[in-house]
Amino acid sequence: MKDEFLIFFSGRVFALAFVLAASFLAFYSPALRAAERDVDVVKERQALMKDIQSTIGSLSAMVRGKREYNVDSLQQLASEIKADLHQLSSLFDEPSTSENSYANRNIWENKAAFDELFQKASEAIQQLYVVKNEADLRSSLVVLGNSCTACHRQFRLQKPKS
Ligand code: HEC
Repeated sequence: MKDEFLIFFSGRVFALAFVLAASFLAFYSPALRAAERDVDVVKERQALMKDIQSTIGSLSAMVRGKREYNVDSLQQLASEIKADLHQLSSLFDEPSTSENSYANRNIWENKAAFDELFQKASEAIQQLYVVKNEADLRSSLVVLGNSCTACHRQFRLQKPKS
């Protein structure tokens, strides 16, 4: 009697586990996969943004005389920013956020305005290729920096002060 009960019970447990696993696969895993994808997209986005910021730091070092002003390395750095921004452009296609993201969800309600600000930043980067001297570089960096801020003000959430 006891054994029968155990067999009956373990059969039930097995069936229940099976049903749970199946429903997990059917309903939860696509959602989980989407959440994982979002975490990756956010990480990639933040890494590229940081990379751009540090490349701009190298350019401003040229303006401040901390790094030799040189057209070849200027253009090399401009190309790095351009490539990063190009990679970034597809990382906002889908609404994607995570608990570590500072992307404002209003991006995807105002995607045209967001894309326009993205375009402004691309144009500002394009200007770096025709810079003629340090003074020129300084004003181009101001324009570029303003294009970053314009988007952040509207579409990036404030990081809590630590
Ligand atoms: C069209 C909008 C837009 C433009 C243009 C833009 N950013 Fe961002 N930036 C964002 C958004 C949105 C985030 C938040 C991303 C997230 O956390 O998911 C962000 C995040 C960042 C971060 C923080 C990354 C982190 O680790 O949290 C830095 C640094 C940054 N941007 C630098 C720049 C610089 C420098 C430029 C200009 C060359 C620039 N961004 C241009 C929208 C923009």
